[in-house]
Amino acid sequence: MPKRSIVSSPAFQDLLLQRVTRRSVLQAGVALAPLAVAGCGTSEVSASAPAHGLSFQPIKGSTADAVILPHGYTYDILVRWGESLASGVPDLDSTRLAGGALLEPRAAEWQSRQFGQNCDAIHFFALDANAERGLLCVNNEFPDGAVMFPGHPKFAEAVRGKATAYVRQHPHSAAASQASVGVSIIEIVRRNGVWTRVQDSRYARRITANTPIDIGGPARGAELMRTRDDPNGHRALGTFGNCAGGQTPWGTYLTAEENVHDYFGNHALLQKERGLHDPIVEAHQRFAMWSTHSLHGWEGADSRFDMLRNPTEPFRFGWIVEIDPKDPAKAPIKRTALGRFAHEGANPIIAPDGRVAVYMGDDAKFEYVYKFVSERRFDPKKPDRNSQLLDEGTLYVARFDAGGAGEWLPLVYDEKGPLNESSGFRNQAEVLIKSRAAASVLGATPMDRPEDVEANPTTGRIYVACTNNDARRGESQVAHYRGHEIDLGPNAANPRAINKFGHIIEIREADDDHTARTFTWEVFLLGGDSEGGKLLSSLTNVRNDTAYYAGYSNASEVSPIGSPDNIGFDANGNLWIVTDGEQPDGSNNGCWVCPTTGPDRGCLQRFLSGPSGAEICGCRFSPDGQTLFLSIQHPGAEGTVENPRSHWPDGPGTQPRSSVIAVRKLGGGRVGS
Ligand code: FEO
Ligand code: CA
Ligand code: CA
Repeated sequence: MPKRSIVSSPAFQDLLLQRVTRRSVLQAGVALAPLAVAGCGTSEVSASAPAHGLSFQPIKGSTADAVILPHGYTYDILVRWGESLASGVPDLDSTRLAGGALLEPRAAEWQSRQFGQNCDAIHFFALDANAERGLLCVNNEFPDGAVMFPGHPKFAEAVRGKATAYVRQHPHSAAASQASVGVSIIEIVRRNGVWTRVQDSRYARRITANTPIDIGGPARGAELMRTRDDPNGHRALGTFGNCAGGQTPWGTYLTAEENVHDYFGNHALLQKERGLHDPIVEAHQRFAMWSTHSLHGWEGADSRFDMLRNPTEPFRFGWIVEIDPKDPAKAPIKRTALGRFAHEGANPIIAPDGRVAVYMGDDAKFEYVYKFVSERRFDPKKPDRNSQLLDEGTLYVARFDAGGAGEWLPLVYDEKGPLNESSGFRNQAEVLIKSRAAASVLGATPMDRPEDVEANPTTGRIYVACTNNDARRGESQVAHYRGHEIDLGPNAANPRAINKFGHIIEIREADDDHTARTFTWEVFLLGGDSEGGKLLSSLTNVRNDTAYYAGYSNASEVSPIGSPDNIGFDANGNLWIVTDGEQPDGSNNGCWVCPTTGPDRGCLQRFLSGPSGAEICGCRFSPDGQTLFLSIQHPGAEGTVENPRSHWPDGPGTQPRSSVIAVRKLGGGRVGS
């Protein structure tokens, strides 16, 4: 498990100084271009190896249906969707998918013990002192019916009721679909530098849309959390929409429930039946489900997902769930103190006084950045007590001010206001269940889809990946948008209209203390085309087609990026970025890296190109930095079982299958070196 700590202020000052020095060199008009050869580090004045340790030969973007890596690198596939995790359970036979293999009577039961679909977050938990054996906790984000079942509609048609109709006609499909999502835990071992999966591991397990999960924290037992089947509001069934995640200092896994609004039907009928002023209807306002039919259609076979019959069931989703990977008997717990929204991830760091801060993004257009700070302190000597840290504490939301300052605003119920009955909250549980509405009352800054938010372990600075936002307007315009009045125009932290390629914000907490109530921030990167004079060396005159890579301005050295989604850090504090969306050069999604300090800060280099249609997720290193674990999610997206649009990973004639890969350097060495 990577140790996270923060540096003292002097170290930060040094870094800042280096950066200012470099900028003044650039401003003085010293041309770096003649010295430049492809690759970072060429601008280093010293003859010694650059401190960032990156010396791989960057690759160009590609549209090939393949995983492409720099020269001298390779990857091993650790697990594919459908591989059996339990003895007595067969592997999914993907050659039979088009013939309806997943519609057969035992398919759902098997799927619930096979590796899940659409792998996303990955975290590594060592099982021995050398970390040569460990567990991977992997999210399985969503079911893509079109690549699972013959005749199933694609998403564009699914929302018009066709997925629900399909499920009604093929009720087994809902059970198989529910069994394909959630979390997979696998055991892996490294021999001679190569990781392989351990078959029949005693730790291997699945958590699906039907696994019992305890509800912890302030919303446990709250009125809005009670359902017909769980009148006490203490235990939910399942988790889904599991996007990114996190790893606690006490060795547990955090999985983030993101797009849970895709799973419930009949929202409009509920509104019609109860009226818009009904407290349950009102509570759904800012985290609305699809109005009639859900994206996945489960309500066609399972009344739990029919809002007319179970109007409070959706409130039990959209949380951070804590899982102990080393204790398969322990039920996962929904940690409601961390709020309810489209959680992308949850990244903890121990603050100087021992309290734990957890950084989180709400991945939706014009939603917010959050931080939870525990009330009590982490104690490595009392692991049992640490598991309670996420139940008591304060949830904050970020306001980014125009001059580079910012404030964390507490989401705390107070009868004197602002979060009280007159603003729509009767108690702390309701503040948390309706986190988005509470954050709006407090004046949080609406962002361009904040995804991963994570502290750099070497500097303590926080990076916020904002994927994109095609709805951001060019000028201030207050309008009704998804349940509230909001300014859709640009703000200092989201400066571009129609933000097609996304950006990254860098935050420094006051006194480098992760429990701080105030911070400073700057734009670290504006994704987009770095060619044709579009790369800015400073943030003046930002247009929606300009790019900015932390002031690095040698366009011939940087690799353009779009749609940053998940991030990770290596031991040198370099920022690794994986993407989900359009690229400026029209290439497939991939993985990039750039130094965050020193003269090469912002020199972004492309490290990987993914298969057709896939997004790249995960982005975690083994403790020795010699392996980069990545999820290749939804290769062949937009295809069907009848007409697959990718044949990765198994080649021509095969169905595409989301898989976890382990990237390594041939002959050994740190990834990136
Ligand atoms: Fe599931 Fe925000 O990506
Ligand atoms: Ca994501
Ligand atoms: Ca995404």
